[in-house]
Amino acid sequence: MKKILVTGCDGQLGRAIRKAYEGSGAEFINTDVSEKDDVSALDITNIDAVMKMVRAAEPQVIINCAAHTNVDACEQQWDLAYQINAVGPRNLSIAAREVDAKLIHVSTDYVFEGNGVRPYTEFDETKPVSAYGVTKLWGEQFVKEFAQKYFIFRTAWLYGEGKNFVRTMLGLAEKYDTVTVVCDQQGSPTSADELARAIRYFEPTEGYGIYHATCEGSTNWAEFAEAIFARAGKRTKVSRVTSEEYARMNPASAKRPAYSILDNYMMRLTGSYRMADWQTALDEYMNRE
Ligand SMILES: NC(=O)c1ccc[n+]([C@@H]2O[C@H](COP(=O)([O-])OP(=O)(O)OC[C@H]3O[C@@H](n4cnc5c(N)ncnc54)[C@H](OP(=O)(O)O)[C@@H]3O)[C@@H](O)[C@H]2O)c1
Repeated sequence: MKKILVTGCDGQLGRAIRKAYEGSGAEFINTDVSEKDDVSALDITNIDAVMKMVRAAEPQVIINCAAHTNVDACEQQWDLAYQINAVGPRNLSIAAREVDAKLIHVSTDYVFEGNGVRPYTEFDETKPVSAYGVTKLWGEQFVKEFAQKYFIFRTAWLYGEGKNFVRTMLGLAEKYDTVTVVCDQQGSPTSADELARAIRYFEPTEGYGIYHATCEGSTNWAEFAEAIFARAGKRTKVSRVTSEEYARMNPASAKRPAYSILDNYMMRLTGSYRMADWQTALDEYMNRE
């Protein structure tokens, strides 16, 4: 039976992975930084703990869903961000190599500068503009350096079971008639379920490397908020502001790429997988919520 070790299993993607593999027959070792009923404690920043667990379990696959994903907090917590987003994947890469496991790692559109005029492909130059982006890029580099059989999936604007933009907007709609949302950052909202399905598709293959893995199509945050309200039957209005205006209102917010649409080019080039478009994935999520 295939053994799969998941880190950060209580996060949005971690939960979606468990769901995507239901009925697969694979044996799961679910881990997160804190221990719970069916979750073992594994802090990916601790190399000794990672080596000990991986040596004992000998999984065929490691799926790293752990990360420091609070983009604004990362600006004030560079050390912690490097530890979780860069040193953690390094540790998992070293351990995966030792037991000959495949490593599935997840990265972000924020590795790009965001001043592009067309969707970024896997072949475009990276240039992160935030602590989160810098530390996630180092995570990618460590995976490339230390793992042997790896997949890196760069995703964006992820929402699933957990704190995310969709839930934040729905919460605000309960309290306010109008919400203020940035209108000049473009990207591709991606459901954690859709990303987990893509991971399940690639995991048994040998098509290693970097893939952009976002839902097809793109939008901006303000339009995304409107799409959420429309689906929820809310009359909440969206007041559009620029990133500059938003930064003046929220001085602690990190700089974000203005244009971070990813082209799932490697999936197309290899004729391997097609992600659902973002509206269809949002319909599925909202119907379930
Ligand atoms: N969310 C997005 O919009 C987005 C966009 C692009 C890319 N991504 C990437 O997609 C992946 C999944 O993101 P997500 O939204 O599912 O993240 P998430 O919901 O924030 O989950 C991350 C999980 O990792 C855990 N964790 C934190 N530090 C850890 C450590 N030292 N050791 C082990 N586990 C630790 C967290 O626990 P605590 O909650 O207790 O800290 C949490 O359960 C990440 O690689 C992220 O960078 C996310």
